[in-house]
Amino acid sequence: MKALVLSGGKGTRLRPITHTSAKQLVPIANKPILFYGLEAIAESGIKEVGIVVGETALEIKNAVGNGQKWGLKITYIVQESPLGLAHAVKISENFLKNDEFVMYLGDNLLRDGISQFVQEFKKKKADAQILLAKVSNPAQFGVAELSKGKVVQLEEKPKKPKSNLALVGVYMFNSKIFKAIQHIKPSKREELEITDAIQYLIDQKYNVIPHIVNGWWKDTGKLEDLLEANRLVLDSCKQNILGSMDKESKIEGKVILEEGAKIINSIIRGPAIIGQNSSIKNSYVGPFTSIYHHSILDNSEIEHSIVLEYSMVQNIKRISDSLIGQNATVIQSPSKPSAYRIMIGDSSRIEIP
Ligand code: DAU
Repeated sequence: MKALVLSGGKGTRLRPITHTSAKQLVPIANKPILFYGLEAIAESGIKEVGIVVGETALEIKNAVGNGQKWGLKITYIVQESPLGLAHAVKISENFLKNDEFVMYLGDNLLRDGISQFVQEFKKKKADAQILLAKVSNPAQFGVAELSKGKVVQLEEKPKKPKSNLALVGVYMFNSKIFKAIQHIKPSKREELEITDAIQYLIDQKYNVIPHIVNGWWKDTGKLEDLLEANRLVLDSCKQNILGSMDKESKIEGKVILEEGAKIINSIIRGPAIIGQNSSIKNSYVGPFTSIYHHSILDNSEIEHSIVLEYSMVQNIKRISDSLIGQNATVIQSPSKPSAYRIMIGDSSRIEIP
């Protein structure tokens, strides 16, 4: 069995972060989202992985390399433009050949990995297996309608969802899916939808089995989901102090200080992680915060947020529910007039009390 990981796409909902970087590389608890998927694939025993890449190909290749560190053999497959999930499968036929495969959306995160589902798919010898999870906002996903435990209908981002069961971004297929993709047309959003291809398999009476996921699952395409995923992952981390702290500082609860992290006269209340060579000075870091490497927090307070690498927050009373990009600076301005002075990227969002 092989795996196909989708790491192209546009990432419009995470702009401006995704103007400059791949959304699959945003760190959750200081580890790129994509790496969680690759770990889950390796753990399930799969060795051969194709990664579909688009505009951010170089960045993904630099981060993942040849996959050796997970014991994987990686083949990169270039998708000229993001024409849909089924399009990504179509262009990967040469790599996938007649093998069964797991398709894993690179921005998805499953608490319990995928081993159990891979085993089940192999055992049941189905043509396709879909994973479903109950959500409160089904209109934002592919939605499945079940009857007597069987899938009867799938619909991509329906206006009036027929159930609260969302399609999770992990699918298992055999080579019948290529035939299905030949029969579908681009959707309203002009993409070849994998949802439509699976519906074709259902209509043609192929064996498509559903599996409801019990552990948590997150599609990290939006800020709230990213912060929620960060919260869930941090919550399950163990304390690990490799960095240093002075006598005036206090660490409470589950905190990870990576190598070279420095805590000076500050309070870190976990679950939280402070990245390599980052420094926290005269500050408070509250629960569910991840500070990536080489960043500075000075005389400020932050909680329930993610700060990316090489950034600085200085003299800021309180930051919450935020994502701060690479190389960003958030500082209090000492000069008059006392106004907000802002230089932000396109499609950014700032909320001011
Ligand atoms: O996360 C689950 C949802 O994923 C499902 O419920 C939906 O049925 C499914 O269509 C998909 O919806 P999204 O709108 O969230 O898909 P998105 O465009 O975010 O793409 C998912 C991943 O695939 C992302 O890592 C980017 C990558 N991708 C996407 C497209 C459209 C590609 O590599 N190539 C593409 O052409």
